[in-house]
Amino acid sequence: MTLRYGVIGTGNMGQEHIRNLGAVDGVEVTAVADTDAGMREKAEALTGLTAYPDYRDMLGAETLDALVIASPNHTHRSILADAVATDLPIIVEKPLCSTVEDCQAVIAAASSRAAPVWVAMEYRFMPPVTRLIEEVRKGTVGQLRMLAIREHRFPFLDKVGAWNRLSALSGGTMVEKCCHFFDLMRLITNSDPVRLYATGGQDVNHLDETVDGQAADVVDNAFVAVDFANGTRAMLDLCMFAEASRDQEEITVTGDGGKVECGIPSSRLSIGKRGFVNRMGDILPMLSEHIPVDEKLLQIGDHHGATYFEHVAFRDMIRTGGRPAVTLDDGLRAVAMGQAAERSIREHAAIVL
Ligand SMILES: NC(=O)c1ccc[n+]([C@@H]2O[C@H](COP(=O)([O-])OP(=O)(O)OC[C@H]3O[C@@H](n4cnc5c(N)ncnc54)[C@H](O)[C@@H]3O)[C@@H](O)[C@H]2O)c1
Repeated sequence: MTLRYGVIGTGNMGQEHIRNLGAVDGVEVTAVADTDAGMREKAEALTGLTAYPDYRDMLGAETLDALVIASPNHTHRSILADAVATDLPIIVEKPLCSTVEDCQAVIAAASSRAAPVWVAMEYRFMPPVTRLIEEVRKGTVGQLRMLAIREHRFPFLDKVGAWNRLSALSGGTMVEKCCHFFDLMRLITNSDPVRLYATGGQDVNHLDETVDGQAADVVDNAFVAVDFANGTRAMLDLCMFAEASRDQEEITVTGDGGKVECGIPSSRLSIGKRGFVNRMGDILPMLSEHIPVDEKLLQIGDHHGATYFEHVAFRDMIRTGGRPAVTLDDGLRAVAMGQAAERSIREHAAIVL
């Protein structure tokens, strides 16, 4: 049976979901909703459907098997309040909400439902990242000690209503953007953070922009150092005025036995073992390989094929009745780390989590 999906919010990310769902076997987008007329038109052009201006009318009128929520961060709490009242599996874009308090309200509202809620964390599903995590799990680096994540990229894109320019709406850059990296840190270290220190600021981007009379106030560069309960140290290096970079994301995992690193979009993965010497006597990575991603998947999304792989896993969960790969609790913890990093930047102080 083809699973029928309803998509709420059909801006940048909602359209990426629609295009990727078109590539996944056994699913079909059968309803879409967006408050913005221009984005409704785009969704209608992609799907051939008539889009609903109000998602509540969509929920009342349509027979669906799953919901995708890709509206702005500050709308997740109220939209989820209606969505969790249905019995449909839900995939909601990161961050789960823009504040910890809102995440907790959603978790409380969802506590009695049987159907799963999956928080979309696309970076987990990028093929080079998936492979890096497999290597760490296999013990390739030995005892994991350090994890470094660098994102050096272009400034925030334009969004409907410019919601990503105001921390009050997005949660701030550490929540909005970096929840991905905090989620990856928890996943890769297999531990939870105990303390973090962040230094950052808004030094280059959006300096003269205002939204409804309010000045844009989002951090555009930061270093965040995190101590994890199992003794692993992690660090994030974010720069959003660094589009002239070889790779946008670089992840390096180092343990007492070696190192695994990957880069995106180059899709390179290298593995080095301490003490490994090649025939020439050089100490080099043992392996450096290109992780292939289907060109079609690269074209239909901005996340290195990840949205497709995430949807295949979400569909399989619906079919088999399994658990979400990224739970509401994971979503909450990533927001909590982001909120702590925002506070650390403001207060110039380490935050105990
Ligand atoms: N996983 C990722 O890497 C990634 C990338 C981009 C965006 N996102 C997330 O996806 C979500 C959407 O971001 P975007 O980039 O598509 O923003 P966007 O502004 O391009 O699109 C959001 C859409 O939601 C619509 N909307 C607002 N309120 C609504 C409501 N009450 N009901 C229905 N539609 C509503 C807007 O009109 C707009 O079309 C955000 O939570 C964002 O953080 C995730």
